[in-house]
Amino acid sequence: MRPVLLEYICCPVCKSPLILQDEKQDKSGSIFTGVLKCKACNNRYPIINSIPRFVEFAKKDINVSVWGEHWKKFGKGNVYDISAKLTAEGIIANGITKQINPQEDKNFFFSYFKNKIVCDLGCGSGQNINLAYSAGARLTLAIDASEDIDVSYGKYREDDTIQFIQADINKLPLKDEVVDFVYSIGVIHHVKDPKTSIKKIEPVLKKDGYFAFTILKKECFLGKIHQKLNPLKPLILKIPKLVLMSVSVILALLLKVALIFYKIVSYLGDKMVELLPYNKIILQDIYYLSFANLVGFWYDVLIAPVYHVFTPDEWRNWLQGAGFKIKKFNDYGQKGEPSGVFWKIVVIK
Ligand SMILES: C[S@@+](CC[C@H](N)C(=O)[O-])C[C@H]1O[C@@H](n2cnc3c(N)ncnc32)[C@H](O)[C@@H]1O
Ligand SMILES: [Zn+2]
Repeated sequence: MRPVLLEYICCPVCKSPLILQDEKQDKSGSIFTGVLKCKACNNRYPIINSIPRFVEFAKKDINVSVWGEHWKKFGKGNVYDISAKLTAEGIIANGITKQINPQEDKNFFFSYFKNKIVCDLGCGSGQNINLAYSAGARLTLAIDASEDIDVSYGKYREDDTIQFIQADINKLPLKDEVVDFVYSIGVIHHVKDPKTSIKKIEPVLKKDGYFAFTILKKECFLGKIHQKLNPLKPLILKIPKLVLMSVSVILALLLKVALIFYKIVSYLGDKMVELLPYNKIILQDIYYLSFANLVGFWYDVLIAPVYHVFTPDEWRNWLQGAGFKIKKFNDYGQKGEPSGVFWKIVVIK
């Protein structure tokens, strides 16, 4: 953690300033251990392995231990996992760019990030941090509640323009009106109560700031699977991880066979492809995943503590109720093209 982060963070409980104590810095000025003490309520938050940690007191409300564990198994993450700085072409080619770009024209992307304070909320193992970082953000705040934050930090630790924070979305240790752009990829449907979380994000944004996020659709096949699985999650999470992993391998094998079949049919022409259910998601999004990623995909489905799905009207009402204006509410898949699986939502404060 760099001292500059103190300009942006505050006590997540009472929003008062924090004082740095007992800090130890390395030669480059990075604080690798210390304590952040709240000036008002005296709560203390440790800095461990260079990351300020704000989750201990919030632990009963968040169920994220599975995430950190997950990425320890799957290591690098999916196809977008590039820790190095991307070129302009690389940024534009990345499907996630389309998902979080307020403008359909990809070239506009840079102006939203250049010299701005950007937050990757629920950054996980860091697959998408490099978008803000490579697009020239003045500071990228990478936030996640789980141990994934250490995985992310491990990838970018040398870079001062990215600061890592372990925190819960519902108790953000960020001062009001400090962030220009928050993006959150595949996270908001995993929190306990998305409606509440949306309200917690609004204050940290500057006026006219953007919040872009992707969520699973209720109407798609994955949404339907999750509606059935959600009530079973407490039971599923009791199953030994090795069993869940084995089930994921079997499901990945079946999916691989289906993918090969779809690919063969695609050589017979578009009309034939259109007869196949979910052809867009399968041929556009899933086909390009490696076998390890397919196993990870199923493991994700099984171990995510919850995967909420709501109707577009519900999301719209909550966002407007939280004080946002809706700029985009589109259908976007992993590669950025409509696939029927995710909503891309961009709102303005
Ligand atoms: C599916 S992963 C997505 C990670 C990343 N955004 C990406 O695109 O690769 C969901 C992430 O949300 C994080 N998460 C879930 N609930 C959270 C909460 N209440 N506060 C902060 N992060 C949370 C998990 O720890 C996990 O890393
Ligand atoms: Zn406090």
